[in-house]
Amino acid sequence: MVKINTTTWLGLSLATGASAACSRKLLQDTAAQYVQAQTSGNPGLLPLASNVSYIENDATVELTKGVLSQPITIDLDRSIYDTEQCIAFTEITAATNTHPYVIDTRLLVSSGKVAAIQSIVTDPGDWVFNATNHLKWAKQEKWTPIPKEKQDTRAVIKAAADAYLDSWLNGTVKVPYGTPCARIEGGIYTGERNVTANTCTMPQFPKEFTGIGDRRYVIDEELGAVDIFHNFPFIDVKRPNGTSSTNFFRIEGGMIRYIHETTVCLTNNCGR
Ligand SMILES: *[C@@H]1O[C@H](CO)[C@@H](O)[C@H](O)[C@H]1NC(C)=O
Ligand SMILES: *[C@@H]1O[C@H](CO)[C@@H](O)[C@H](O)[C@H]1NC(C)=O
Ligand SMILES: *[C@@H]1O[C@H](CO)[C@@H](O)[C@H](O)[C@H]1NC(C)=O
Ligand SMILES: *[C@@H]1O[C@H](CO)[C@@H](O)[C@H](O)[C@H]1NC(C)=O
Ligand SMILES: *[C@@H]1O[C@H](CO)[C@@H](O)[C@H](O)[C@H]1NC(C)=O
Repeated sequence: MVKINTTTWLGLSLATGASAACSRKLLQDTAAQYVQAQTSGNPGLLPLASNVSYIENDATVELTKGVLSQPITIDLDRSIYDTEQCIAFTEITAATNTHPYVIDTRLLVSSGKVAAIQSIVTDPGDWVFNATNHLKWAKQEKWTPIPKEKQDTRAVIKAAADAYLDSWLNGTVKVPYGTPCARIEGGIYTGERNVTANTCTMPQFPKEFTGIGDRRYVIDEELGAVDIFHNFPFIDVKRPNGTSSTNFFRIEGGMIRYIHETTVCLTNNCGR
């Protein structure tokens, strides 16, 4: 063990703040281990806390019976890192796997261990699902790090994403759509018509829609990214009070550039 005097140690921990306990590197490593674990179907490749909780589509599942215990060929994975909350988020597109999937996962890290794994797991029959199309468009997107001086604050990133979800209920909410802006919704790509336009605009939902609740955020200023797990009412006719869903955003200069939507259905295409 290296001896280090108290003053120096205190100075270091003050300078780095929360990131001393939860570094970007730790979250990057955890996300990489998660991708390895899913590839081999071996959750043990993750540094699991002894009491780790495992949740798929908002229901507790035994880790050994979950999708993470089954090997999946991953065609694309994209991760973001929230050092303030110590959560890594990864979206996996598995189009060439025998059984295709799009999986969005939150990895909650505590004292270097994975304390909770929460996934939205979608496959054929879920909302406009098509992993081939998801892969085709997602891999063309650019989620490169944003230079420090151009990074948005957490508040700006969160507000842009919230405005989008709020606008579904309240059509007068102003959403900062970029030009271009494109959405991958299941397997639908709005930008197919015109890649240089804003094709993200959502109409207001019918009166029965009560708004998006239970929002759980992962925010990454460096990548200009936010993911929101939420409860999506109305869309699934068999579960009008809400189904598991997530929206994953890239925000540049306060404006929305990309949106991915992944929504679970109880019956084929949510009965629509
Ligand atoms: C899991 O264990 C850790 C460390 O003992 C503890 O801090 C945490 O509260 C436990 N979590 C749950 C959900 O029981
Ligand atoms: C997914 O989309 C591709 C390209 O449009 C199409 O060829 C394929 O049939 C679709 N797959 C399914 C299962 O609908
Ligand atoms: C709808 O959004 C507008 C603009 O943000 C806001 O002023 C108004 O209070 C909202 N209406 C409701 C019913 O929440
Ligand atoms: C595509 O969108 C851009 C930006 O809105 C617009 O200037 C252009 O005319 C559009 N092109 C077509 C073919 O509609
Ligand atoms: C939905 O919520 C309403 C109001 O809380 C309740 O009366 C109804 O039974 C719920 N429906 C389902 C399908 O859970």
